[in-house]
Amino acid sequence: MITTTGLTKVYPSRGREVTALDGVDLHVREGEVYGVIGQSGAGKSSLIRCVNLLERPTAGTVTVDGQDLTALAGRGRRAGKELRQARSRIGMVFQHFNLLSSRTVKDNIELPLEILGVSGQERSRKALELLDLVGLADKAKSYPAQLSGGQKQRVGIARALAGDPKVLLSDEATSALDPETTRSILQLLRDLNRQLGLTVLLITHEMDVVKTICDSAALMKKGRIVESGTVSELLATPGSELAQELFPVGGQASGPGRTVIDVTFHGEAATQPVISQLSRTYNIDISILGAAMDTVGGRQIGRMRIELPGRYEENVVPVGFLREQGLQVEAVEAPDEPANVPAQAAAPALVKEGAK
Ligand SMILES: Nc1ncnc2c1ncn2[C@@H]1O[C@H](COP(=O)(O)OP(=O)(O)OP(=O)(O)O)[C@@H](O)[C@H]1O
Ligand SMILES: [Mg+2]
Repeated sequence: MITTTGLTKVYPSRGREVTALDGVDLHVREGEVYGVIGQSGAGKSSLIRCVNLLERPTAGTVTVDGQDLTALAGRGRRAGKELRQARSRIGMVFQHFNLLSSRTVKDNIELPLEILGVSGQERSRKALELLDLVGLADKAKSYPAQLSGGQKQRVGIARALAGDPKVLLSDEATSALDPETTRSILQLLRDLNRQLGLTVLLITHEMDVVKTICDSAALMKKGRIVESGTVSELLATPGSELAQELFPVGGQASGPGRTVIDVTFHGEAATQPVISQLSRTYNIDISILGAAMDTVGGRQIGRMRIELPGRYEENVVPVGFLREQGLQVEAVEAPDEPANVPAQAAAPALVKEGAK
């Protein structure tokens, strides 16, 4: 539904050049909720602004619903007719709501329809329908100043839906909200995604947002996408930084000369019998250092950090046993013992996690 290829954005900045996007290839499938996560300055907002051509990319292409937007003329407020039309099919939700304070809630929602030249009666009908959809049917005549943050964002979402978009872009829509309101707004986005078949591309710096509603996610660093995939794929990727942040487990080795591993299991696959089998089969004592169950991307997943006696090289057979049971196993490097782990398993994120 959304594809970018080689998307690059260079801003001129006081005689220097800032590369905000450095060849981003993004692919968002129809009907999914796709989260882009990254630290401040990673280029997330630049990405979303280039996707709807609020910013014209320096290089690369943006295709939304089969249409190459980069081929259409104009940009920002000076967009040509075709681009304006294409853009009306892309809704945008902002962190600070961007509502007009002098207009009522209903008039705020009608604004994009006014710009599209929709008749007064039709605008009014649509606005009331959307207010109902976002649960604010009784607030039509209120002004933004009379609403809570969560209610303002609901208006922002209703306004974004005015042009019957197929795609909704959201830049930190919940960052200004408290945790409970965040949950209700995320739930609303999820419901709209399901009810309307809306494809959602959202930008966030909160892992919880990804965990709650995203089907897929990408991690951005310095203008590049360094990891991406469905949440299940990411969780099954050894060394994935996103997976580790989505699902952290703590616990440190009790001493030198021991092997610490993270065992991840999905759904019903229970680790308990496997761990006791492992212990019996190889006659070893296993300590559980940490464990957690959670729902990520709508699926139950569990992770357990266990410690085996002996160095990693001595535990190749037990580790193989766990893998044979269909469990995902990753070695965690001990802070004082870099030699504990084979080079390819020593992902930086795991080292960081192990040191906690
Ligand atoms: N209009 C602009 N002119 C010059 N530089 C810009 C402009 N917009 C963004 N940048 C620079 O581009 C880089 C990426 O910025 P961007 O706003 O996309 O990051 P971000 O990931 O959204 O960060 P945040 O999480 O803080 O919102 C930053 O170095 C920023 O300073
Ligand atoms: Mg930003």
